[in-house]
Amino acid sequence: MRRMTTETAAAEAVESLPILIAPHPILKARARAIGPADDSTVRDLIPRMFATMYRAPGIGLAAPQVGHGLRLVVIDLMPDDKPQPYTMINPEIVAASPDLATREEGCLSLPGQYADVTRPAKVAIRYLDEAGARRQVEADGLLAACLQHEIDHLDGVLFVDHLSNLKRNMIMRRLAKELRQKRDEQKR
Ligand code: NI
Repeated sequence: MRRMTTETAAAEAVESLPILIAPHPILKARARAIGPADDSTVRDLIPRMFATMYRAPGIGLAAPQVGHGLRLVVIDLMPDDKPQPYTMINPEIVAASPDLATREEGCLSLPGQYADVTRPAKVAIRYLDEAGARRQVEADGLLAACLQHEIDHLDGVLFVDHLSNLKRNMIMRRLAKELRQKRDEQKR
């Protein structure tokens, strides 16, 4: 998810990764569960994903967005501008409220595009943290939306997939056009 303020996060020493832009086949694919054999990959990926997210700046990033089809997300809403990082390995939605909430979402893989998305207002998520410990978090508000948005990425779902075909096509056409214009400007 894209960070809504222009506040620049503290510079990170770790190298960031290129973010895939929609449409891209990796963004549409279901990511696989992380197992013990992925340990060194995940250990290397986590700090890079945080660096990439803070630099973007974003409040959430899923591994498929940086080209890795693994069930890994990083999130930091920076409440009161203080870091509050979450690393979630194999996150799962275990409960969702019947009441819904609508809020404007953006995505680092759809730069400059925003739309209102309706989702369950509260969710409970089970996951493994970076140390491999089982954790559960109950969330509402922005965190609930962000968690669902990032877990969607692990299933090849983008926020525009929650919109009508008409709205989705409009956004995808606008994104393609804006990227084309940007490339043309760079050529000049
Ligand atoms: Ni996103």
